[in-house]
Amino acid sequence: MSFDLIVKGGLLPDGRQADIAIAKGLIAAVEPGITAEAAEVIDATGKLVSQPLIDCHFHMDATLSYGTPRVNASGTLLEGIALWGELKKLQSREDIVARAMDYCRQAMGKGVLAIRSHVDVTDPTFRTVEGLLEVRDRIKGKMDLQLVAFPQDGWLRAPGAEAAVIRALDAGVDIVGGIPHFERTMADGAIAVRAACRIAAERGLMVDLHCDETDDPLSRHIETLAAETIAFGLQGRVAGSHLTSMHSMDNYYVSKLIPLIAEARVAAIANPLINITLQGRADTYPKRRGMTRVPELLAAGVTVAFGQDCVMDPWYPLGSGDMLDVAHMGLHVALMTGTDQMRRAFQMVTEAPAQVMGLNFGLHPGARGSLVVYDCATPIDALRLRPARTVVVSDGAVVARTAPAVTQAVL
Ligand code: FE2
Repeated sequence: MSFDLIVKGGLLPDGRQADIAIAKGLIAAVEPGITAEAAEVIDATGKLVSQPLIDCHFHMDATLSYGTPRVNASGTLLEGIALWGELKKLQSREDIVARAMDYCRQAMGKGVLAIRSHVDVTDPTFRTVEGLLEVRDRIKGKMDLQLVAFPQDGWLRAPGAEAAVIRALDAGVDIVGGIPHFERTMADGAIAVRAACRIAAERGLMVDLHCDETDDPLSRHIETLAAETIAFGLQGRVAGSHLTSMHSMDNYYVSKLIPLIAEARVAAIANPLINITLQGRADTYPKRRGMTRVPELLAAGVTVAFGQDCVMDPWYPLGSGDMLDVAHMGLHVALMTGTDQMRRAFQMVTEAPAQVMGLNFGLHPGARGSLVVYDCATPIDALRLRPARTVVVSDGAVVARTAPAVTQAVL
């Protein structure tokens, strides 16, 4: 028996030491002491090996644009949306593609092999959609890019937005998006949620809505999203992104809401870097953290993933494409510093987003031959140190290598 690639001696996230053999782009064996021949052997002795890092909430049409045409002075979500409105009139399709490709290279070097990006379909020139469809084609075979048809300016609030969503889906965009809390009224938000679910049901697609990204405890579109998910039979195909209003909601109401989310099998995507900087802006002290109720959702059996959301764009001046930074911030904001909780935070940027995106990743025979080798031994050290991803393998081929930094300190 001969394999295409064997990763020797790595430590899996659960602590087992095993060799991983890959043939024809798929994992063929995960066991200690594989002696078969392989075209390439990677020595990962004593190093953590995991399935790929995944970012299931991003905005690739805006990334790496920081400062163009100006910075977000207030730091708020609403100024960010206004600033994006200015930027999208200025940028060419070539600008979008160049920045997105640059970002994909950075993220891939950090072990990210799949990204779900929202793409603003309310750009009348449609170059955001055309640009990211081109990027999806260009990175195919190395990185997976799922695109969400996202009407940034509102489904009802922006004239022609529903038609733009349908045009984007017809052009090959994968998923139905929305932003119900940005509609003019709660009632309009509910109409927008229902419309998104109806279109997804008609076309057999998934739904991922920006939902309740506000500190308003009465922003309850997630309730409508869960109910419509059940009504349209979309269980397991729907995600609610952000859900930050849940942070501020009445506890009794949440005790009813979380079981409904679990029943509808709606996944929750928290974006801790962004939630901690955009929410609570209008508070004096104490200032709310604004991230959704991650431990409580996990305890109810809801699939919860962490997303990056933004890197150097109208909403966020920082970010590096590193999902370990995202999980690091997430576990701090959610107070998840217990040993099992930190391990869970690592799963929230690997296993959970693979589930959300429907990707066959994992370190078991039959899964895609994609993995990451880290310059550390455990998932908790990966979160603590955010070390070099020394080797990144995508569908059986090495796509990135990073040499660990060498420090010489003299005492
Ligand atoms: Fe977002």
